[in-house]
Amino acid sequence: QADERESMFLVSEFAKDFFQRMLHKTDAGKAIGLSYFKERGFSSETIQKFDLGFSPETWDAFSSEALKKGYKLDYLEKTGLTIVKGEKQFDRFRGRVIFPIQSMSGRTLGFGGRILTNDKKAAKYLNSPESDIYHKSKVLYGIYHAKQSIAKEDTCFLVEGYTDVIQLHQSGIENVVASSGTALTPDQIRLIRRLTQNITILFDGDPAGLRASLRGLDLILEQGMNVKVCTFPEGEDPDSFARKNTQEDISAYINEQAKDVIRFKASLLVEEAKNDPIKKAEAIRDMVGSIAKVPDHIQQEIYLQECAKIMDISEEVLYSSLAQLTAKNQ
Ligand code: CTP
Ligand code: MN
Ligand code: MN
Ligand code: MN
Ligand code: MN
Repeated sequence: QADERESMFLVSEFAKDFFQRMLHKTDAGKAIGLSYFKERGFSSETIQKFDLGFSPETWDAFSSEALKKGYKLDYLEKTGLTIVKGEKQFDRFRGRVIFPIQSMSGRTLGFGGRILTNDKKAAKYLNSPESDIYHKSKVLYGIYHAKQSIAKEDTCFLVEGYTDVIQLHQSGIENVVASSGTALTPDQIRLIRRLTQNITILFDGDPAGLRASLRGLDLILEQGMNVKVCTFPEGEDPDSFARKNTQEDISAYINEQAKDVIRFKASLLVEEAKNDPIKKAEAIRDMVGSIAKVPDHIQQEIYLQECAKIMDISEEVLYSSLAQLTAKNQ
């Protein structure tokens, strides 16, 4: 089992080098892949740092080279890099730019591959499947390059996507990791908590981004972390925002916009409920549910007071609702 995982790591390392070689050393890689990254504003240094790559359009360029080099088909398949259909084998990643996904210690675990167009019909990103070395729920994209900065700054920015991590990094903001489009998991939060107690969620300025940022919320609160949320103007994500602004501007924007997550959620729910009493009651229960997750009782108390003000209800109602909930959960 340990040997098997080691073989899968070796295959992944080979694949990472292969995709990099395709990007930098082939005509198609240079013409299509490199120019794609350059158009997105990534510098040569950034492209190197994140080991970005390119997978050729052909059916099995990677698989056949890997087999020729002596890597076993079994491991090529187990890492998901090769797809086996009967007698035929073909590459999972074809005609895409490649984002290798690394562990905290810098081992290659899997890959994300993006199409080179903005064709809405094709799946924009294709990712390595779950495997013995790639457990999606335990991985944060960018953690290897971010860990020092997270510890030093004692805070971590959490974004949605690969390009958000990379663009912020290039702008000089290095304490940033991505959940890669999935809901945040307890294991991912524990990974961050080894480095800092402070998280600021920077999610896309679209309804999906907003909902995603609230989805992982209770889990983060449960772990006793301090959480803030910063939203971006409609249609912007951290990547597009970082491209248009300097490091100073980005930091200033985040400092101004980042709201304590309980305040943020309470305001959002109040806004949504408007004057509908049923929705408002739901909103209050939802808020109390979140506050109940906070392990520190003093913190809980402060949140209840704030929440009462924002939602324009008495603190007593919130206290009794919290007491009810706590009793029920025991
Ligand atoms: N994602 C995915 N599969 C998709 C769409 C998204 O795995 N079909 C993940 C990727 O990790 C992506 C993240 O969700 O980076 C955020 O999605 P989105 O905001 O749509 O993509 P961006 O990162 O903004 O990508 P781009 O700027 O390249 O369009
Ligand atoms: Mn690197
Ligand atoms: Mn989005
Ligand atoms: Mn995005
Ligand atoms: Mn984007």
